[in-house]
Amino acid sequence: MDTPAALIDTLKMQRNIQRMQQRADSLGVHLRPHVKTHKCTEVVAAQIAAGAHGITVSTLKEAEYFFELGLHDILYAVAMAPHKLPQALALRRQGCALTLITDSLAGARAIVDFGREHGEAFAVMIEIDCDGHRSGVKPQEPLLLEIAHLLGNTLTGVLTHAGESYGLDTPEALQAIAEQERARCVEAAERIRAAGLPCVQVSVGSTPTALSAMNLDGVTELRAGVYAFFDLVMHNIGVCRTEELALSVLTTVIGHQAEKGWIITDAGWMAMSRDRGTQSQRRDFGYGQVCDEHGEPIAGLLLSSANQEHGVARFEDSGMDVVAQFPLGTRLRILPNHACATGAQFGRYHAILDNGEVHVWERLRGW
Ligand SMILES: Cc1ncc(COP(=O)(O)O)c(C=O)c1O
Repeated sequence: MDTPAALIDTLKMQRNIQRMQQRADSLGVHLRPHVKTHKCTEVVAAQIAAGAHGITVSTLKEAEYFFELGLHDILYAVAMAPHKLPQALALRRQGCALTLITDSLAGARAIVDFGREHGEAFAVMIEIDCDGHRSGVKPQEPLLLEIAHLLGNTLTGVLTHAGESYGLDTPEALQAIAEQERARCVEAAERIRAAGLPCVQVSVGSTPTALSAMNLDGVTELRAGVYAFFDLVMHNIGVCRTEELALSVLTTVIGHQAEKGWIITDAGWMAMSRDRGTQSQRRDFGYGQVCDEHGEPIAGLLLSSANQEHGVARFEDSGMDVVAQFPLGTRLRILPNHACATGAQFGRYHAILDNGEVHVWERLRGW
């Protein structure tokens, strides 16, 4: 196998998928995986086989790709830009049960007007801001009902994503934000229903909140993405162990700076991505945790800096003879900070099956 390569440990991936599905089942909600993490047919097939209901996508290209592969129930969970409506219409006309989202009157009006013009009633959800992290309408705002009235019968529900959960790392804080995510989204749904409008779906989720929620009363579905692979950011948040990380980058030692204790690898930021998500967390893993060829972490050895096609791995504090320990040509694996960002650097994965066989799984890229 050439390097750098993106490896998926399929046993770990399957366990991660089962774990999240069991959580959704025990909380009494459907799981709608966010496929933006992997953008891969085989991974989504495993999620559906485990019991997922529909998928969430972050681009219309993902929607087109997965619809062609036979998935119909697709939630495009990024606010709809009016110029993309013809693309959404084409999908609906082909039989895709595509749902759009909006958090503004202008956005809702664009969807409704375009739909009327073309004889199409788009299914739309209103995005709720549950934590001030990104976009969405606050549940108490008058704007919520104005948008709901404008959408009328095409309104299918509300959704929210507690992005602030990524900055937390204690079970108590994670449980609290999961409850906030649930409560604010349910509150928005109840206001809409009290105004006599439909609001069937109540959709919440991020991996940290999904794995921390104590109950999901009033919620109909959970969305989560990165759980399929997990990563060092999730490890630092406290929702997985390093042994559960299913994605790693296989790299080759291409040189050394012996006196500095540097091991030069052919995985730089082009392979790992520029994501330094652990920098602001309790443990900074540089550009990744270095493991041996079999995926066993090597204590204290981090990919501490990265150029485009060069990585520099070094021990945090050790005067080890790195040339003798990791000679030229040695294969190593690096666990990523952010699986979605690292995966996106590659056009395919190499999936390692339980029996050691390696299969190539294509990965969708671009917009
Ligand atoms: C709208 C939305 N829903 C769900 C998710 C899934 O979050 P995670 O990858 O933490 O599971 C994301 C991730 O960014 C998102 O933007």
